[in-house]
Amino acid sequence: MNKNVLIIGGTSDIGFAIASEFAHIGFDITLLGRERDALKVNANDLSIRHNINANYYFLDILDLSSIDEFLNNYKQVPDGVIYSIGYLGDQAKAQNEFDEAKKIVDINFTNSMKILNHFANQFEQKQSGFIIGISSVAGDRGRQSNYIYGSAKAAFSTYLSGLRNRLSGKNVQVITVKPGFVRTKMTAGLPLPEKLTSTPKMVAKDVIKGWKKHKDIIYTKSIWRWIMLAIKIVPEKIFKKTNI
Ligand SMILES: NC(=O)c1ccc[n+]([C@@H]2O[C@H](COP(=O)([O-])OP(=O)(O)OC[C@H]3O[C@@H](n4cnc5c(N)ncnc54)[C@H](OP(=O)(O)O)[C@@H]3O)[C@@H](O)[C@H]2O)c1
Repeated sequence: MNKNVLIIGGTSDIGFAIASEFAHIGFDITLLGRERDALKVNANDLSIRHNINANYYFLDILDLSSIDEFLNNYKQVPDGVIYSIGYLGDQAKAQNEFDEAKKIVDINFTNSMKILNHFANQFEQKQSGFIIGISSVAGDRGRQSNYIYGSAKAAFSTYLSGLRNRLSGKNVQVITVKPGFVRTKMTAGLPLPEKLTSTPKMVAKDVIKGWKKHKDIIYTKSIWRWIMLAIKIVPEKIFKKTNI
């Protein structure tokens, strides 16, 4: 039987590109998401192109009962889980409307724990498995343009760091992926600097490479590690007056 990876966010451009890389090396794929038609198209594409088994389940991360329903119906223990659901949201709106701020944090962080805790416990018990979380460089330092999304990603990165620490002695690999700019549905229409911007396929290739090499944190493009290091060491006195 093939190994199986669960993609939480099976219609995400980055999630689907990562699914394709795992399918390419013979993993069966389970896609989760809220758009059944799009999930079906993606699952068919994966199974035909890579000659593997691919299926899908409904899950709306904002609807906690749909997470329970999925967990009740999904009887197998996967070999790996990838969280690639995300919501950029509207920073200006979130500053004025708490519902928008809460939605950003719930999708990117709070509700991810309901499903990831479940698989972390299973992997801990069976002493194998991997969890890959798609976080963001936006979580490395709060900036005025997107600090609500950024704070959700910071919390998500910290959560993954804690999981990694907890599970490192249990043969469970936990990887935090921090993309910079990536051309996807999420960034459609935004002016992105060409040299610093990846495609979902480039991100997926970096993820597979990092997974094989047992990396803990993956910046993609890799130059973002150095950009964020530079941004993080700017003293707060200066940083608070900038608009980067
Ligand atoms: N693109 C970038 O520049 C960039 C940079 C850094 C990090 N990231 C992160 O990368 C991850 C993947 O994003 P992407 O760039 O591939 O964008 P994307 O194609 O827009 O993917 C976002 C995914 O989140 C799903 N989603 C949103 N709300 C949901 C909900 N309530 N329930 C279930 N699924 C929901 C979307 O589902 P639907 O298809 O149903 O809408 C979609 O599958 C995200 O975590 C994002 O924050 C992206």
